[in-house]
Amino acid sequence: MSNSLIEELPKIIKRGRKEAQKILEGISDEKKLTLQTNELVFPSKDEFGFFKDEIKNSNEKSFNKLIYGDNLLAMQALIAGDENTQSMRGKIDLIYIDPPFDSKADYRTKIELPDKKIEQRPAVIEQFAYKDTWKNGTASYLEMMVPRLILMKELLSENGSIYVHIDWHVGHYIKLIMDEIFGKNNLVNEIIWSYKSGGTSDKYFARKHDTILFYKNSSNYIFNVLKEKSYNRGFKPYNFKNVDEYQDELGWYTLVNMKDVWSIDMVGRTSRERVNYGTQKPEALLKRIIEASTNEDSIVADFFCGSGTTGAVAEKLGRKWIMSDLGKPACMITRKRLVDQDSRPFLYQSIGDYQKEQYEQSEFKTIRDLSHVIMHLYGAIPFNDDGNSNNNLMQYNQIKQTISKIQ
Ligand SMILES: C[S@@+](CC[C@H](N)C(=O)[O-])C[C@H]1O[C@@H](n2cnc3c(N)ncnc32)[C@H](O)[C@@H]1O
Repeated sequence: MSNSLIEELPKIIKRGRKEAQKILEGISDEKKLTLQTNELVFPSKDEFGFFKDEIKNSNEKSFNKLIYGDNLLAMQALIAGDENTQSMRGKIDLIYIDPPFDSKADYRTKIELPDKKIEQRPAVIEQFAYKDTWKNGTASYLEMMVPRLILMKELLSENGSIYVHIDWHVGHYIKLIMDEIFGKNNLVNEIIWSYKSGGTSDKYFARKHDTILFYKNSSNYIFNVLKEKSYNRGFKPYNFKNVDEYQDELGWYTLVNMKDVWSIDMVGRTSRERVNYGTQKPEALLKRIIEASTNEDSIVADFFCGSGTTGAVAEKLGRKWIMSDLGKPACMITRKRLVDQDSRPFLYQSIGDYQKEQYEQSEFKTIRDLSHVIMHLYGAIPFNDDGNSNNNLMQYNQIKQTISKIQ
């Protein structure tokens, strides 16, 4: 592959369109992917309480959903729909995504537990399915994004909008891709989220902002004007005719239409909303986005949900939501977060038979081939045939134990 991304970009977009097209053509196949419900999560245990009627009057189609698995497959299943899942094509009013930037460090999100730090890594099968994802750096990252953004457009309603959270690493390329998929004229705002956080350099200005690209799906997009404080010069009252003025501890201000530069604190170490997920975004950020771009009956989606901030805020604002994440820890943290905030019942789903299909399409011929790879990832050493009378697979030196079976 040539090194020039500018040269590569049209090819990346073409390949991504082809991939998305293939997926869209396949959604009516008999062997289409379906969502499998692992659990109906009841955050409130009181069966006679608040949710009683909601459960009685609901079917799987109307519950909020947390989907474990690759979002390409999750979106494919959502577009296709099945007897338990209504097709979501054209039904979602707001999609917010905060995809990992193209570095392995971001992809393997760090999670802090009380006594240790762990890195979230995709399951072994997923590591193989995605082993090429970052092979060519930014180009591979963009390659991953294009078909996903196309499927997101399919899911958006006519009144819908998409917010894509990016930073200086890849933001300029993503903007070109968004212009291509959603149309240059549909860019509504380039929002700057500025924050304070540790870490500066003596070699450059402190990098303390992210960018959020806000595109509408059509000119009928939902937009509720939000207001913000604008302090008067000298914090004194102006006393203009027909202008309402207010006062707080800083001084006098008026309310103006919100600007596109947002200063919102990161989730701090001692913040009550912190769930110890490395890339967790503040609820205040999502609150603005959801309030501006949804109505009360809107469905909000986040297909790279991480710790579930989007769903947590959508839930608090009484909106419906769909979230997905490729990482099991992310899904578990999101599930717990929603339970802790006593959210309405929701489905925890995964993509039916997807791991099996990934295995069948993989380069492994037998389960023994696969188990060798898995054990290798854990640092185990294969036995040679002599001295392996019990047919054990490998030995793991650190715990001096033989391994005969993989669960
Ligand atoms: C930057 S984090 C999102 C953080 C989130 N906004 C929050 O507030 O916690 C990106 C997430 O995308 C997930 N992810 C990466 N590739 C994915 C894929 N193909 N499908 C679904 N999730 C994916 C990662 O597991 C990670 O949790």
